Amino acid sequence: MAINYSAVQWNRQKKFYDFALIGGVALYLLTFGAVTEILFPLVTAEILLMRALGTAAFLLLHLILCIGPLCRLNPKFLPLLYNRRHAGVTCFLLAFLHAVLVVATYHAGGNLNPILSIFASSPLTGSVAGVPFQPFGFFALLILFLLAATSHDFWLANLTAPVWKALHLSVYFAYALLVLHVTFGTLQGETSWFYVAAMAAGLVTVLGLHLLAAHQEVAPDSEKPASSDRPSAVEAQGFIDACAVSDIPENRARIACITGERVAIFKYAGKISAVSNVCQHQNGPLGEGKIVAGCITCPWHGYQYVPETGASPPPFVEKVPTFNVRVKDGRVWVDPKPNPAGSRAEPALIET
Ligand code: HEM
Ligand code: FES
Repeated sequence: MAINYSAVQWNRQKKFYDFALIGGVALYLLTFGAVTEILFPLVTAEILLMRALGTAAFLLLHLILCIGPLCRLNPKFLPLLYNRRHAGVTCFLLAFLHAVLVVATYHAGGNLNPILSIFASSPLTGSVAGVPFQPFGFFALLILFLLAATSHDFWLANLTAPVWKALHLSVYFAYALLVLHVTFGTLQGETSWFYVAAMAAGLVTVLGLHLLAAHQEVAPDSEKPASSDRPSAVEAQGFIDACAVSDIPENRARIACITGERVAIFKYAGKISAVSNVCQHQNGPLGEGKIVAGCITCPWHGYQYVPETGASPPPFVEKVPTFNVRVKDGRVWVDPKPNPAGSRAEPALIET
């Protein structure tokens, strides 16, 4: 973690993004209300609000899911990534209000427990249009709650980054449930096919951006090491030719895929060091960061690591694996066997 890291403090940038988030949601709800009043004047206030809140939550979820691949495609979107958690909590709150209104309107009037009524209200009929769509929404809401409740850095630190990351990947499961919720809900309700068309456009956007970003990731991975046909002493020791020293800009890195693992090779102060590309915070790409005040600084939230040891400067305790490196004839050679996280690997001096 970076000594100067201030993610949970209220800085100007965070306030700006929160203001834009709340303002955007308010504007959407007002516009949705006004357009519905004009096009469907007979819709009751509860149903109008229920639809406005449900669609606002779903739309916001699309934006949240698109931020990750957008950042991989263009670093200009990174500020959205830093502020994504508040969008996630807002999405849950909107969805929760939507569900509360639905339960109060459709499920609270009978003898049955309102939550049980969500499951019992549409018995299976065998037809596609009769698929009970509300339970999909219920389970998606549970996942959104879990993610919002564990979004704070407190949980990240206590659950550990890999567990937290795995937990938060369930947002894609929630999204799949919501696609079913909205599709089957629209097939049964008197809502227009516009919902299905808009949802299909959203699905294509989310999938398309993820495929594009994945393609961009795979491209550098599939680059072959430049000169495996040149036997040398370092090669005999099992080192792999990763790139030319001149390929790496000063205080920056080049990411190489060394026998399946992505390694960030940094050039700084006449030296070369290599560490795992995966940041311990939220798996951010360290090789896209830069050296700041002598430390590798993650581009996502600013966690820092000493290039020679892969350890965060005290008092922080995060560690990434290091790799042994050599420089020979202007090329960087990397030992594919990682050293344990936080252990020192002697940097290679750049030949002059
Ligand atoms: C307990 C959880 C939920 C229940 C019981 C529920 C129930 C419903 C119902 C009854 C409708 C049809 C409303 C109507 O038009 O008359 C609906 C639609 C919809 N819901 Fe949900 N829902 C839940 C959770 C969610 C969540 C978590 C989201 C999004 C994050 C969501 C998004 C939507 C959307 C976009 C629509 C379509 C617009 C509409 O017709 O209102 N719902 N839901
Ligand atoms: S600092 Fe958050 S992923 Fe690296």
